[in-house]
Amino acid sequence: MTSERIHFYYKNVTAEVIGTEHGLTAQQFQELAQKTTPLIEQLNQQRKASKVRYRDLPYNEQYPKQVREIASQVMNECENFVVLGIGGSALGNIALQTALNPYLYNLDAAQRKGPRLFVFDNVDPMQLSSFLDWIGDKLDKTIFNVISKSGRTAETAAQFLIIREMLLKKLGPGGYKKQIIATTDPKEGTLRKIVNEAGFRTLEVPDGVGGRWSVLSPVGLLSAAVGGIDIENLLAGARDMDQRVSRTDFFANPAALNAAINWHYYNAGKRISVMFPYAWRLKDLSDWYRQLWAESLGKTKNLKGLDVYVGPTPVNALGTTDQHSQVQLYREGPNDKIFTFLQVKQFDRDIVIGPAPESTPELSYLAGKQMSRLLNSEKLGTEYALLHDKRPCMTVLFDQVNAFTIGQFIYLFEATTSLAGLLFDINAYDQPAVELGKEATFALMDQPGYEDLAEKIKPVQQIDGGYLV
Ligand code: PA5
Repeated sequence: MTSERIHFYYKNVTAEVIGTEHGLTAQQFQELAQKTTPLIEQLNQQRKASKVRYRDLPYNEQYPKQVREIASQVMNECENFVVLGIGGSALGNIALQTALNPYLYNLDAAQRKGPRLFVFDNVDPMQLSSFLDWIGDKLDKTIFNVISKSGRTAETAAQFLIIREMLLKKLGPGGYKKQIIATTDPKEGTLRKIVNEAGFRTLEVPDGVGGRWSVLSPVGLLSAAVGGIDIENLLAGARDMDQRVSRTDFFANPAALNAAINWHYYNAGKRISVMFPYAWRLKDLSDWYRQLWAESLGKTKNLKGLDVYVGPTPVNALGTTDQHSQVQLYREGPNDKIFTFLQVKQFDRDIVIGPAPESTPELSYLAGKQMSRLLNSEKLGTEYALLHDKRPCMTVLFDQVNAFTIGQFIYLFEATTSLAGLLFDINAYDQPAVELGKEATFALMDQPGYEDLAEKIKPVQQIDGGYLV
């Protein structure tokens, strides 16, 4: 275990920095503490009663053991490891890979410890065809990890059926069985049925843990371990953060502060929450966060069954890239956003910027400086500019980016989302609104049982020429 930490910094949402119209006063913080403290206790109680199952994942000893066992087989068996999944069955895998493995992991064998890693979380025929063209003669050196709790998700099922056919044709039933690892519900569901027939190696999607909360289970751990990521330290980081997010002292609990500040600003009309990492490695964590925040907090009904239509809109940006794309809007557009920067103190590697040509002395201020200094100066520069325009900013400061701090980050935002759910008084663990679109797709794809819905969709399906320009 390492000693690096992440820290949550929130001075730049205070009235002291951005004034009383947009900033929080000491009195308002006290009110937030009063509102949130009983909810921290409530969440701690729910968790003790096993009602918040994701909170126990970092303590599960069986899952990492099973994952390590399969990962060590896979690392010997294959050159390519392909995840088929979507939503919570893919975003955590992608985030871990981007955060903890080198940028050119797939291209440069010298930079990687495991097989090449691909995650397919879409059904785009152009994208998948290109991949299938490349992988077609490498199937015996490729393991496919199909991840689906239900097994009914159309995207993952379609990808699986394509790969299944290919494997059966090229490698026969033995190859089909050997090249697939399924991560799914331990007892029921469509994929479990297929697993029971085909006899694949399997891992479980834990009972009571929804997709977007499952990255610290075998769902996210297998591809991480196969890629050489230190999953023990990842889980240790989550356990470390668990101590901090369980504290009942509001001002010592980063998840409580984060949730309460977000909740306050939502109610004050700042309904857009921008996550703005200043480290390329952290960019897919903001994608993972985007799903967690949106699916968990965007709800019609509160827990009393009343219509509330709540949900902050999560947006992700990347520093410095989006300074040249979004900051004009962020500074001069409506003051309806709050910003969460991710900043890294110590990069594992750095580059010294070379000397400027004599003809361009205006560039010599860069020469001899470290690139990380430029990146962090741009973060501070952007934050300063936003604060100048009274935009509230928070920062998650990473001492370093490693498995331990990424585990902390994941757990911090999971606990923040749970507490935000309690503040909004909604169920953060379901996603009923995702269903109708899924069912409509079943109907459009002629799934028996959906004929009535297919009729209802017709007006949307038919293009009305009167409106086509
Ligand atoms: O968070 C969720 O519950 C969803 O994003 C699911 O992970 C996603 O819909 C995939 O579901 P499944 O694992 O059943 O294929």
